[in-house]
Amino acid sequence: MPNIRVHFETFGCQMNKLDSETAAEKLLASGFELADTPDAADVIIFNTCSVREHAEERVYSRIGTLKRAKRLRPELVIGVMGCMAQKDGKLIFRRAPLVDIVCGPRQEMRLAELIAEARKGRRILALDGVDCVQAPQAEPGAAWLERTGLTRPSPFHAFAAIMLGCDNFCSYCVVPYVRGREESRPIDDVAEEVRRLAASGAREITLLGQNVNSYSFGLPKLLRKIHDTPGVERIRFVTSHPKDVSDDLLAAMAELPKVCRHLHAPAQSGSSRILGLMNRRYTREHYLDMAGRARRIVPGIEIASDFIVGFPTETQDDFQQTVGLVKEAGFNQCFIFKYSPRPGTKAAEMADDVPHDVKKRRNNDLLAVQEEVSICRNRQKHGRVMEVLIEGPSKNDPARLTGRTGGNDIVAAAGPPSLAGSIVQVRITGSTPLTLLGEIAP
Ligand code: SAH
Ligand code: SF4
Ligand code: F3S
Repeated sequence: MPNIRVHFETFGCQMNKLDSETAAEKLLASGFELADTPDAADVIIFNTCSVREHAEERVYSRIGTLKRAKRLRPELVIGVMGCMAQKDGKLIFRRAPLVDIVCGPRQEMRLAELIAEARKGRRILALDGVDCVQAPQAEPGAAWLERTGLTRPSPFHAFAAIMLGCDNFCSYCVVPYVRGREESRPIDDVAEEVRRLAASGAREITLLGQNVNSYSFGLPKLLRKIHDTPGVERIRFVTSHPKDVSDDLLAAMAELPKVCRHLHAPAQSGSSRILGLMNRRYTREHYLDMAGRARRIVPGIEIASDFIVGFPTETQDDFQQTVGLVKEAGFNQCFIFKYSPRPGTKAAEMADDVPHDVKKRRNNDLLAVQEEVSICRNRQKHGRVMEVLIEGPSKNDPARLTGRTGGNDIVAAAGPPSLAGSIVQVRITGSTPLTLLGEIAP
């Protein structure tokens, strides 16, 4: 019998990308093959996100497009894994009758077994803390797996999870409900994985967690431990919670040359009143103080942020404070989202009272403000020589290479594809709001 071919479609954050990779590795090890397209697959797995309603709607509409394929090939297995699976469980079977498997985030190591069951024509539900319809629970801790590197998006860059879950309960956020309580992975286990990733060609490692600053064995200690791993040139970590960015962490960033001078510390709002309602546990002043400390202790650091516009009760004045913060903090990147009420969260108990067109306008206005900031910050970099890890030819312009600086700025420069995976010096000669343009320095 030919091998069963599985295709993954991944939505959501980097943690989900890593989970798809890990699940794919596990399937390969169990004798499955991977398919690049849904048409070539016997099994299609959607790895889903619940962070905003829009993310969920996209998954349902994608599943809907498989109606014909499933009619023509009734043996086609469709699975839903990830956060939406955990959140909605068997409701997914009702809303999307084409689905055969619903598998929660800490059960994904068992996909091979679940697929085998589904191919017998059964519907499979495997969730954390829920008695599975068909199969026993996964063992705790089974989520950490050795990876070969064959399935990661770039051979030069790899993610490593250092913790699972989140305990922060920001009032708008579904993540603590779908990803469960924080669980940190021992330093030695992470160090071992980083060694293996480097041995398989990864030069840049991104440590992942919803709030890496609360890594219980100490993030600065972990950074020092993995810093000299042979083959590793760069280390990043995401995401940082502004309330937990310690001087100790900043000192480690300043001291360790391979740790990128890049902090993704989402502010979410510039209004202390809204931050209080969001349960973020810092004020506008604390945030700006954190950013100031970071710039003082780690010269040249780039700070990136996320914002939510249109949180319940957000007035034009609150929004103007967010605009002011964006102007003052000098981010190199901002990700801006329209508030989306998530059932079960504290904020969902408040009326979603900012009209959609106001959310949309604030979103566009804030994007325009950040664009101004980016244009200005990028201009200041003209003439500088920056270290860039080349990822490969640019998607928009194959004659150019793209890569990233330590600060996570995107750079495009002409050069041969053979430079992919190298760290090169690039002289910055121009810029667009989102990209620095340059020439590879001799
Ligand atoms: N753990 C990370 C990221 C969480 S989700 C952190 O704490 O920063 C990524 C981003 O989605 C968040 O930073 C937030 O800006 C946004 N987000 C989360 N819940 C949302 C909601 N209900 N509506 C709109 N945006 C949301
Ligand atoms: Fe969500 Fe807040 Fe946890 Fe981030 S820190 S995942 S926003 S609850
Ligand atoms: Fe989405 Fe889950 Fe990540 S809700 S943002 S995929 S942790």
